[in-house]
Amino acid sequence: AITSIKEALAGAVSSGGEITIQGWIRTRRDSKAGISFLNVHDGSCFDPIQIVVPKELANYEETVLQITSGCAVTITGTLVQSQGKGQSFEIQATQVTVVGWVENPDSYPIQPKPHTVEFLREVAHLRPRTNLIGAVTRVRNTISQSIHQFFNENGYCWIHTPIITASDCEGAGELFRVSALDMQNLPRTEQGNIDFSQDFFGCESFLTVSGQLNVEAYCLAMSKVYTFGPTFRAENSNTSRHLAEFWMVEPEIAFADLKDVIQLAENMLKYVFNKVLSERADDMDFFAKRVEKTAISRLQHILESQFVEIDYTDAIKILQDSGKKFEHPVSWGIDLQTEHERFLSEEHVKAPVVVSNYPKDIKAFYMRMNDDNKTVAAMDVLAPGIGEIIGGSQREERLDKLDLRLDEMGIPKESLGWYRDLRRYGTVPHGGFGLGLERLVSYITGVANVRDVIPFPRTRRNAGF
Ligand code: 4AD
Ligand code: MG
Repeated sequence: AITSIKEALAGAVSSGGEITIQGWIRTRRDSKAGISFLNVHDGSCFDPIQIVVPKELANYEETVLQITSGCAVTITGTLVQSQGKGQSFEIQATQVTVVGWVENPDSYPIQPKPHTVEFLREVAHLRPRTNLIGAVTRVRNTISQSIHQFFNENGYCWIHTPIITASDCEGAGELFRVSALDMQNLPRTEQGNIDFSQDFFGCESFLTVSGQLNVEAYCLAMSKVYTFGPTFRAENSNTSRHLAEFWMVEPEIAFADLKDVIQLAENMLKYVFNKVLSERADDMDFFAKRVEKTAISRLQHILESQFVEIDYTDAIKILQDSGKKFEHPVSWGIDLQTEHERFLSEEHVKAPVVVSNYPKDIKAFYMRMNDDNKTVAAMDVLAPGIGEIIGGSQREERLDKLDLRLDEMGIPKESLGWYRDLRRYGTVPHGGFGLGLERLVSYITGVANVRDVIPFPRTRRNAGF
């Protein structure tokens, strides 16, 4: 039987006191006394386990002394309490087998020394072997699993919404087109436009920017639903918070208003923070020591307090009265820029902050019009260090008001016939939000760039690996 390094470090020995572990070498060190120390990781926990190999081992010279970083090994030995500080258990090896050698060790990119995140992106296929990306990967997993647990425990149904769609939910025109045919040779209409009716789907189609419109349909039948999957945006923003392909969680609740949506966001985030702190204490400890000092304390602080809510109109006043010189001038009606979002969360509230009731002109067609006819029932959760991590709203459930918005924004009603049907057949107040998974992982770990919290980032001019 194979013991994981996590179990081994916890002292879980099978009967007979002998254990076998498998993993990859991080470092090898040889003492003058003729003992070698191997550090082995297998992804199960943050710490590698130390293997003590005596020179008496039969293959010491021809195998153990040839081992380099990155080699895959199987090790059998006795688990003993470690003398070294910080290490709970180590293994006195009785057998060391190299399963996979590292060809030309000097060429191996992951050497036992600090690497920049920029360098690690160039070796995205090997970077999960570093302790940074290993920790990020485990925390990302815990976040994703705990999101599913949260919704499952609270009676939500997980809806698998489509990846390919004909609609542009956010209306930002940042779509990746899907075509089965060679775009250059697609038939043309008499006007010279591409004739998508000849393409696979018989219409122009795209990779989805959001599962919201589809999940709304299921919400208005199943009451509490969510979708969680990849979404795609051809945004021309080369920033540390934008990816062309990212994962989004989108819950949607029926018989609900904006207050309910905000409460749901707070409950879900707190549930996730709790899980991460309790299940990934080892990795969070590393982030607090090496990446972001407040990684743990700020989550604890949030768990003890209530989210602060600020109306957009008040937020504008706060920004104007701050005396700060912003690159983008502040006036009522502007879309909040990252610098504004960060000021509100980092300097004004010093914690995540919820901004609500944005001007209608900077928001999507589906958001519910407020009585002032100027603002919509929208909300964003802004986090220190990153800005917007959640965007949500109460949806416009009144057909006449929805149609007014569609006309105003020049969106053809025919294209959303099915969506308008939902307002004609048993419509109810409802709403939901979208959480960008990478932005949440980035906030929790303190790893500043979303490119470093997704296994294989897709950004402009970068779809390698
Ligand atoms: O604010 P957004 O555009 O909202 C929607 O898509 C709604 N349909 C969600 C809903 O109400 N169901 O996007 C939601 C979140 C943002 O707050 C952000 O965290 C993330 O998605 N996001 C991105 N993350 C990484 N890279 C990008 N290019 C992102 N664009 C949005
Ligand atoms: Mg948004």
